[in-house]
Amino acid sequence: MSQNSENSQPSEALENLLHENRKFPPSAEFAAQALAQPTIYAEAAADREAFWARQSRELLSWSKEFEQTLDWSNPPFARWFVGGEINAAYNALDRHVEAGNGDRVAIYWEGEPGDTRQYTYAQLTEEVKKAANAFEALGVHKGDRVAIYLPMVPEAVISMLACARIGAIHSVVFGGFSAEALRNRIDDAEAKLVITADGTFRRGAPSSLKPAVDTALQAPGHTVKHVIVVKRNGEPVEWVEGRDLWWADTVEVASAEHTPVPHDAEHPLYILYTSGTTGKPKGILHTTGGYLTQTAFTHKYVFDLHPETDVYWCAADIGWVTGHSYIAYAPLVNGASMVMYEGTPDTPHQGRWWEIIEKYKVTILYAAPTAIRTFMKWGRDIPAKFDLSSLKVLGSVGEPINPEAWIWYRDVIGGGKTPIVDTWWQTETGAMMISPLPGVTATKPGSAQIALPGIEADVVDDLGHPVADGQGGYLVIRSPWPSMLRGIWGDPERYKDTYWSRFENMYFAGDGAKKDEDGDIWLLGRVDDVMNVSGHRLSTTEIESALVSHDAVAEAAVVGAADETTGQSVVAFVILRGSALVDGVADPQIEQILRNHVGREIGPIAKPKRVLVVPELPKTRSGKIMRRLLKDIAEGREAGDATTLADAGIMQVISESLKKTP
Ligand code: PRX
Repeated sequence: MSQNSENSQPSEALENLLHENRKFPPSAEFAAQALAQPTIYAEAAADREAFWARQSRELLSWSKEFEQTLDWSNPPFARWFVGGEINAAYNALDRHVEAGNGDRVAIYWEGEPGDTRQYTYAQLTEEVKKAANAFEALGVHKGDRVAIYLPMVPEAVISMLACARIGAIHSVVFGGFSAEALRNRIDDAEAKLVITADGTFRRGAPSSLKPAVDTALQAPGHTVKHVIVVKRNGEPVEWVEGRDLWWADTVEVASAEHTPVPHDAEHPLYILYTSGTTGKPKGILHTTGGYLTQTAFTHKYVFDLHPETDVYWCAADIGWVTGHSYIAYAPLVNGASMVMYEGTPDTPHQGRWWEIIEKYKVTILYAAPTAIRTFMKWGRDIPAKFDLSSLKVLGSVGEPINPEAWIWYRDVIGGGKTPIVDTWWQTETGAMMISPLPGVTATKPGSAQIALPGIEADVVDDLGHPVADGQGGYLVIRSPWPSMLRGIWGDPERYKDTYWSRFENMYFAGDGAKKDEDGDIWLLGRVDDVMNVSGHRLSTTEIESALVSHDAVAEAAVVGAADETTGQSVVAFVILRGSALVDGVADPQIEQILRNHVGREIGPIAKPKRVLVVPELPKTRSGKIMRRLLKDIAEGREAGDATTLADAGIMQVISESLKKTP
């Protein structure tokens, strides 16, 4: 496996982001009804803590008032809303019912095969109460960890909120992750309970989940006592008596009476694993009061949410942070009606999303640029067949949105009238940090533009000095924010090292950025060994570890190569072991074999698009792999400056060997 690669500079290849010069001021009509007013920035800047305290009181129902807004006496460990007590599930559910909105639809759920379910706030509250009782009856208590490995079914949201209600800490594992990845996450968090399903539907066919749980729990030494299984696709499953329980026999039969107990504002809400620069995913820890405040605030103002009339749809998966903050928590805390969709955008036809928008009269859509670029490829004729006139605000998240996709989104999907909000944030930030405000900001295609009120973002140079307008550097956050991660599960030192040691007193996001002449921020992609494929975060090191765990591989280096649709794609360079060669020649199937191996080790999303067999890897004298040079090759360029290589001829050898590869 490679050692750390050299730190790269913000990618110049993304300079082409900066070509569209049009600005789109808000229409007078939109501005007149917008919740955000231009004065909100000054108001927040005048006293950030007072601003957040006010938002928190306005947006949430506290069981016990907080005494102090922020305790930053032990940086980088923040405590927000100190002394306050709150229950997240009560805020997302019961209080709306108590306020007379029990009949409002909380979730319009659309299954991939076309089956549907609907939950009003009253019904969803009841389901969550039952699940809370069922989990407690299984011995899950406050502070215990629960792994949730579910497809996009309402039970995912119900399980998350039931955990929050009883103070258990959920760890949602994306359903596309492998048994191996699931086991690692179960072990790291020492989960007591796993909630899964027999499976789901993908591209018109049943796809299974339960077997991965069985494989994950096969080897002894884990902490799991029970597995609750939701019946979704009806496929046969193996059963471990005493451990496995059907959701229908456990949750649905439980009592619907459950009183929420208030938890401390800093009580852990969840752990969510994300890729970093090392092989081991980090368990990002979020707590309750600050997280709910900022997710609810951003959801309301960035989407201009009018909960009585809007229909909101976030098309992310619950397994990622976007699904946590903007499906499970913020929309419900804000009392919104939302759509939740199980399947892929092209099943049974490429107009599925637009059909859903027409059917439910969706007003707010939140999606990733990769999806938008895919729709562009499919052609504008497809959305043109549907009535999308209900749309009011369109959001983008997860990766830089190129101006062409931005304009297409606004024109073709938004009928040339909807504001586009390009929202920059991370698993670690918990909620949106940089984004235009609709009705206020004159938007620029391709730029997330400005820090939200109450947030202090900046772009700095190598030494941590702010760059001048027109210059590029590293994105940092200058002061603590309510929904910031509170640490890495079980590893406080890694939290400090990763985020707070690169620059003094600043949070280092790991992204390159640029300020334009107006001081607006443009995100330019990661500057570390993290890749972004279709808005999914993958670590080069993690995939390298997976590759070298295969018998045939001696060494591996992975790079993220620019990709027109997915933003980046995974390209792996491997040196094979002598024992894997027959007469010096590799198995012609080796690329496929190794792709499948990565799929099994991490999950299908991590499968390299290409695996290139090479005789050597370019290394510096200190043994660091120069991924920059491999990236040049993966992107079809001549390799750049190779003067720091231990062996300057190596790039020639690699290029020659790749020419021979069919
Ligand atoms: O590189 C940035 C990119 O996604 C990374 C965070 O990934 P993750 O933790 O998986 O969270 C994704 C969903 C919030 C960031 O470091 N990123 C996210 N949003 C944007 C973005 N890059 C450019 N523009 C964005 N709007």
